[in-house]
Amino acid sequence: MQILTTAAGLHAYTETARRAGRRLGLVPTMGALHAGHLQLVAAARAQCDEVIATIFVNPTQFNNPDDFRLYPRVPEADADLLRPAGCTALFVPAVEEMYPQPTVLRFDFGPLERVMEGAHRPGHFNGVATVVSKLFHLARPHQAFFGQKDWQQVAVVRQLVADLSFDLEIVACPTMREADGLAMSSRNRRLDAEARTSAPLLYRVLTAAAAQVRQGVLPARVQAAAEAALAAEPRCTPEYFAVADAQTLQPLRAYEPGRAVVLCLAVHLGGVRLIDNVVVG
Ligand code: PAF
Repeated sequence: MQILTTAAGLHAYTETARRAGRRLGLVPTMGALHAGHLQLVAAARAQCDEVIATIFVNPTQFNNPDDFRLYPRVPEADADLLRPAGCTALFVPAVEEMYPQPTVLRFDFGPLERVMEGAHRPGHFNGVATVVSKLFHLARPHQAFFGQKDWQQVAVVRQLVADLSFDLEIVACPTMREADGLAMSSRNRRLDAEARTSAPLLYRVLTAAAAQVRQGVLPARVQAAAEAALAAEPRCTPEYFAVADAQTLQPLRAYEPGRAVVLCLAVHLGGVRLIDNVVVG
């Protein structure tokens, strides 16, 4: 596995591979890798000749400085996981390499980002779109792999690809869960023992809400029951629980036959912000 730290190095590597007729898969990450990331690498390996993982804790997508500062960083351990997983190149740039000057361009994804993560983390998707665009331009992958745990991020990146005509396919891979249902996340490392014990509540609430959606319980009632169940846990501070159209991400007042529903939540658990979602239909 080749370790690349400069934008020029990444570009040269991927262009050489492209010219040799090799199919390129990009796996953008912020590191502190877990089995969910390795699943993305495995999917890329199955479909591509080159698997290029990137590790970059992108400052422009954090609206909370403490969240950025405390985001886990374990680059050596990450590289040790990626090598045997079949990654052919790893791009680990410094902040100055990705942002030699402050960006001026601002992305606005309209209704897609006026809800959930976009509404609660101002500027978040501008930062995501900025860094993902840079990575797409530098690496020019044939496919890019993202996890469905970030359901809204996948929707925003698909919109980005469509609007800017990036010549690549977005592949979204299912959320991986711990045995007790907790969605795998780099932030789980920051949970203390008590918060970790409470954490399976998130998936329990989502699966109970999904059962209600299947029974036709109105979205407002599903949302109220889920918010109450989350708030009943003393260590948990719910930020939002949304019952939304899985494509448009807009909140639902009623269900439409044939349209999938996504249930999304964000909570603070013992001081750590976690998100999760479940799709129904
Ligand atoms: O999902 C993430 O880890 C990040 O948002 C991404 C896509 C790597 C962009 O920084």
